[in-house]
Amino acid sequence: MRILSGIQPSGSLHLGNYFGMMKKMIAYQEQEDLFCFIANYHAMTSVVDGKALARGTLEAAANFLALGLDPEKSTFWVQSDLPEVQELTWVLSNFTPMGLLERCHSYKDKIAKGIAANHGLFAYPVLMTADILLFQSDRVPVGKDQKQHLEVARDIAIKMNNHYGEIFTVPEAEIDDEVATVPGLDGQKMSKSYGNTIDLFQEEKALRKQIMRIVTDSTPVEEPKNPDTCNVFQIYRLFLSKEQQQEWRRRYQAGGMGYGEVKQALFETVRDYFAPFAERRRELLADPDRIRATLARGAEKARFAGSKTLRKLRKKTGLSY
Ligand code: ADP
Ligand code: TRP
Repeated sequence: MRILSGIQPSGSLHLGNYFGMMKKMIAYQEQEDLFCFIANYHAMTSVVDGKALARGTLEAAANFLALGLDPEKSTFWVQSDLPEVQELTWVLSNFTPMGLLERCHSYKDKIAKGIAANHGLFAYPVLMTADILLFQSDRVPVGKDQKQHLEVARDIAIKMNNHYGEIFTVPEAEIDDEVATVPGLDGQKMSKSYGNTIDLFQEEKALRKQIMRIVTDSTPVEEPKNPDTCNVFQIYRLFLSKEQQQEWRRRYQAGGMGYGEVKQALFETVRDYFAPFAERRRELLADPDRIRATLARGAEKARFAGSKTLRKLRKKTGLSY
C-alpha cells in the first residue's frame, strides 16, 4: 500500500507534529511503500524570507532523518524538486469548484485571524491534492486539522475520474484517534501558531521552562486529581505504556501528588526520549551537502513514480497531442 504525507518546513518541530504524524510515518517504512516529502511550496503561504525557507527545508529533512526515516526504505524528497506537481495542480484547478475551497476551515480561520487572503492560501488544498494524486497514494496519515483537505482531494479525484475515466487512486485519510489532537500547554491544540508548543529539539533549560508553563488547576497537593482534565497527563500519556498510565492515574486519584511532580517526570521523559535524536540531528546538519544528496536521490525516485501518472493525465486530457 502506498502511504504518503508531507510536512511544512516552517518553524521548529513540536510534540504535536511528532505524535500526530512523524512517528507513525516513520514506522510505516518497514511494511509499506512510504512516500514522505517536505512541503516547501506550501510553506510559502507563511514563509516569504528566502533564507528562512531554505534553512527550514534542510532542518526539516534533518529532523526526519534523525528521527529514523530511512531514505533506502522510503521515498523522501522536497516538494519543489518536482515542479511537475504544479502542472498537476493547474489541471486539477479546472475541476475544483470555488465553493469547495471557500468552505475550507483552515482558509476561513486564517482570514478570520486577519491574514490577507491571497491566491496561494486559497489554492492550498488543490496543491495538496496534487501532492497526493500525483503518486497514486492509497492512504494519507494526517492530524485532524487536515481532514477536510483530504475530503477535497477525494472530491477532485472522483470528479476527474468521472470525467476522463480512471486516472487517480482515490485516497483515504488516516486519522489516529488516540493522538488525533495533541494538546498544547494551555489544553488547546498544540500548534506553532498558538505559541503553546513543547519543542523536540531545544536546550534542556528551555524545554524545562516550556513544560513548567503547562496550565494546571489549583487543586492542592493533598487532594485527589483528575488525570483526564489535566493538561500535563494528556501530554505525558503519549510516552507511557497502558500499565504506566494506570499507575499514574492511580497516583492522581489517590491525592498527595502535586502537578510539579508530574511536570518534572514529563520533562525528564521528553529530554531523555529525544536526546539521541538531537545528537544525530546535529551531526546531519553539520554536513548539509550530504542531506542535499540524499534529497536529490529521493527526488529521482519520486519523479519516476509521478511520471507514470503525468503521462496518463496528459494523454487523457489532450495535453499531449
Ligand atoms: P502547526 O499547527 O504547529 O503549524 P503543522 O500544520 O505544520 O503544525 O502540522 C504538521 C503535521 O503535524 C500535520 O500532519 C498536522 O496534522 C500534524 N499536527 C500538528 N499539530 C498537531 C497536534 N497538535 N496534534 C496532532 N497532530 C498535529
Ligand atoms: N498541509 C499539510 C500540513 O500543513 C502538509 C501537506 C502538504 C500534506 N501536502 C500534503 C500532508 C499532502 C499530506 C499530504 O500539515
